Amino acid sequence: MQIILATSNKGKVKEIRSLFDGDEVVPFVQLLGPMEIEENGETFAQNALIKAKTIFEKLGQDDVIVVSDDSGITVPLLGNEPGIYSARYAGEGASDRDNLMKLVKELGKKGAKEAPAYYTAAIAVVTKDTEYVMHGWMHGKVIDTPRGEGGFGYDPIFIPEGFDKTLGELPAETKKSLSHRSKALGIAKPIIEMLKEQAK
Ligand code: IMP
Repeated sequence: MQIILATSNKGKVKEIRSLFDGDEVVPFVQLLGPMEIEENGETFAQNALIKAKTIFEKLGQDDVIVVSDDSGITVPLLGNEPGIYSARYAGEGASDRDNLMKLVKELGKKGAKEAPAYYTAAIAVVTKDTEYVMHGWMHGKVIDTPRGEGGFGYDPIFIPEGFDKTLGELPAETKKSLSHRSKALGIAKPIIEMLKEQAK
């Protein structure tokens, strides 16, 4: 049974693929072409479900499992911004770098060189009969100077709890062992296995 990813974010596709070794994991764009999905939910969970259900309906196939990820970073000092707006913090169509620099600017406005922060991932799993949403979190802090080229998004300014390097500097394997996405997918994986068995 094919696992279709309801995301075209290359960073996410790479991380999700690395957790499903041996399974056929196909980003939806390969089947449907590029498509904008309006994320008008109020929570990560709602947005993850909107993405997965939209792709499931567009595919019009019963024999697939659609997996989506809605995620972002929350900074309590900034009134919990950017949260579900992480991908468009600096405006619609903003790049990862624009969003990161906007966060740095907002820290500066508060006179802070660093602040506690956490990533959230909501993973939705949708089939013809059922839907699930799982969450994972990674706590740490954001700093006012980007460091390193690894990861994606806000990773060059995020230092996970217990480390002194950013996710931009740490190896991908370290991020994999700690990340919000890995934790949520760790819960999703046995559910996906079960759904695959049931479909046989
Ligand atoms: P989404 O694609 O609407 O879920 O937006 C997710 C946004 O949150 C991304 O564009 C990144 O800016 C940010 N984000 C989510 N997960 C990560 C991560 O693991 N590292 C860095 N940034 C992340």
